Amino acid sequence: MDEKVVLACLVHDIGVIGFIRADHGYWGAQMVAPYVDEEVSWAIRAHQALRFYPDESVGYSYPESYIKNFGADYRPDPYIEEEYKRARDHKWYMTARMITVHDIYSFDPDVVVELEEFTDIIGRNFKQPKEGLGWDSSPSAHMWRTLIRPTRYL
Ligand SMILES: [Fe+2]
Repeated sequence: MDEKVVLACLVHDIGVIGFIRADHGYWGAQMVAPYVDEEVSWAIRAHQALRFYPDESVGYSYPESYIKNFGADYRPDPYIEEEYKRARDHKWYMTARMITVHDIYSFDPDVVVELEEFTDIIGRNFKQPKEGLGWDSSPSAHMWRTLIRPTRYL
């Protein structure tokens, strides 16, 4: 895979950590947007919707866990349906789709992954601010600060 796809796969669920549960694709995309290629943040945002829609051309089926978690008759909210339709026609569709395809491995308890395998890719594709995440005055710096100090008052 292209390094941008690999980076997107590595950080696509970063919005699930901390206090965030709902709309994790949108949160995650905004958190990393100042530091990654636009294609990466776009794909992270779009993966949230694509997870609900199969694409048999790349072997992605509707997740069994969603049937278990949400019920067999579950339908995503209309804004997710609209996001899916927009993403389906987008030039970076397959980047977001690859997140959903490769995410399957993250649920395999037998796969062993070492972060060191990816440090070069992260180094080349994630523009770490010299001040550190949260301290660089980027549009998402407040999100990182909140994760660092979630109980800080005001
Ligand atoms: Fe996700």
